Amino acid sequence: MLVPPGDDAGVRLLDENRALVETVDVITPLVNDPFTFGKISAANSLSDIYAMGGRPFSALSIIGYPACDYPPELIREILSGVCYVLDQAGVPLIGGHCFDDGEIKTGLSVTGIVEKGHILRSDTPEEGDLLIITKPLGTGVLTTALKGERATEQDIKEAIDFMCMLNKEASEIAVKAGATACTDVTGFGLIGHLARMLSQKELDLILKKDKLPVFNGVIEFADRGLVPEGAYKNRQFFEELVQYKSPLNESFKLLLFDPQTSGGLLIAIKEGKLKSFEKSGIFYRVIGRFIKGTGRVQII
Ligand code: CO
Ligand code: CO
Repeated sequence: MLVPPGDDAGVRLLDENRALVETVDVITPLVNDPFTFGKISAANSLSDIYAMGGRPFSALSIIGYPACDYPPELIREILSGVCYVLDQAGVPLIGGHCFDDGEIKTGLSVTGIVEKGHILRSDTPEEGDLLIITKPLGTGVLTTALKGERATEQDIKEAIDFMCMLNKEASEIAVKAGATACTDVTGFGLIGHLARMLSQKELDLILKKDKLPVFNGVIEFADRGLVPEGAYKNRQFFEELVQYKSPLNESFKLLLFDPQTSGGLLIAIKEGKLKSFEKSGIFYRVIGRFIKGTGRVQII
């Protein structure tokens, strides 16, 4: 094992120069359209390979569904969404497993390859590095609004498009730019995944709240109480790491802990290497800087 447990994916040396990167992730539906659900679940499962600086090589599908009352064409729709995104990633689906379950769920087990020198760990940012995020925040709140029928899929289309989007390009740029650390924002929310980045307790992150990208409508929905339970759990668990240096309203605080599905990458990078992102045309925001510290997130 080349990377301590708890990172985005397991990494095992394959030969002198290369390592295998392996991950598995399964989600329950967060949109009504089965094809779109398949796309999101594939992008979400592939993300941990990209978060390690790896290239996905092959995938196996995992589908649980209530066999008695779930029409087989819905499974085919989900799988065609999965394959659509796997095609974009250039990854073959080489097998999989279906099982009877009370609630529909789907995901992938993915195997990838990474050059030994390109492995992007989560917990290795360096003093002075900038922190980049590559997708806006708020998918937990928005999909909660969708489930509660306060929003339509059309209302949250931008977020759905981002959830279907691969972190492939962002990862490739990060590797080329010599990023010092990388992880993806998923179920533990922004602060939960920052906790992982800061877990060596030698740095603090200065996080600029005005620079955080947020999907349209998120704060308004959160103001109306459309916040997933996971956000409160994450907050309970991780809030002790946070120092609020300027006043933040309650909805914005909760957004910092909002669990994300198929979220963006968090990339620690030298200031001088930012040009690689500027030139690329992909979405990114510089949201903070690492300084000497003890593992805290200081929000200014
Ligand atoms: Co991850
Ligand atoms: Co993961």
